[in-house]
Amino acid sequence: MRLRQGRLDGKVALITGAAGGQGATEAMLFAEEGAAIVLTDVDAEAGQQVADQIRERGGRATFLRHDVSEIPGWHEAVAAARDLGGLHVLVNNAGIISRHGLTDIPLASWQRTLDVNLTGPMLGMQICAPLMRDSGGGSIVNVSSIAGLTAHYDAAYGASKWALRGLSKIAAMEFVDWKVRVNSIHPGQIVETSFVRDATPGHAESARRTIPMGRQGTPRECADLVLFLASEEASFITGAEIAIDGGFTAGAAIRMRSQMRDELARASASEA
Ligand SMILES: NC(=O)c1ccc[n+]([C@@H]2O[C@H](COP(=O)([O-])OP(=O)(O)OC[C@H]3O[C@@H](n4cnc5c(N)ncnc54)[C@H](O)[C@@H]3O)[C@@H](O)[C@H]2O)c1
Repeated sequence: MRLRQGRLDGKVALITGAAGGQGATEAMLFAEEGAAIVLTDVDAEAGQQVADQIRERGGRATFLRHDVSEIPGWHEAVAAARDLGGLHVLVNNAGIISRHGLTDIPLASWQRTLDVNLTGPMLGMQICAPLMRDSGGGSIVNVSSIAGLTAHYDAAYGASKWALRGLSKIAAMEFVDWKVRVNSIHPGQIVETSFVRDATPGHAESARRTIPMGRQGTPRECADLVLFLASEEASFITGAEIAIDGGFTAGAAIRMRSQMRDELARASASEA
């Protein structure tokens, strides 16, 4: 059993894409830690269920159906946060993947991916930051990806996540005098999300084999990192990028090379 520590007592948090996967886990965890939650998603049924669960456990939560690429819903979310007492944490978590390479991506798919993964967080920061300033400051966490740190098979997804990483640093500088910190996180493969569920057969297993830790991450592990960045424990951290990927971006290729070298050495020893 986890003891409640109240790390977000008195805070209001807005989490996008919170109907499932990492966002839902973050909403539940933040509520456990004392925050009132505004959760948004395009999936109204599942989003409402998450809000109901939080309330059943004694927390405060409001769900709004919102496509992050659309401006009016951001103003509605800000109004809902104001009703709960202000805004201290924004988690730009909603994201989509297009599963196209550079040579075959249709323009509409490219633009939709950028609209959701990049323009959505930009609008969120632009529209939410003034209320965060007026609420005494706070923390924005932008959910990028390892695709924002390395090459990726999905051109639009990779471009959007690299741009979000850069935009996070720009925002960190613009908002520093408002006491609003901005950081990006870069998950590797995370189980129990639609990204992994909907992938082609073999995708998850082939990806897992390249992770130095030998396993995928969980939504709870990502939520714990986002909670840390959202809390006062991270009070001197802004403009940072944190990989949460089982060591993948640190040196998966080096590790695979060592394994290959050992295999080749064993093979040549058995031939001799
Ligand atoms: N799952 C992974 O392996 C992985 C790895 C790296 C980064 N990420 C990132 O993590 C974030 C969370 O994704 P997840 O892993 O929980 O996957 P998920 O698909 O389970 O959750 C994403 C949520 O975003 C919502 N959403 C999609 N488009 C939206 C829109 N236009 N407006 C509002 N909500 C929208 C979906 O309905 C869904 O509930 C995403 O930004 C994703 O790019 C995921």
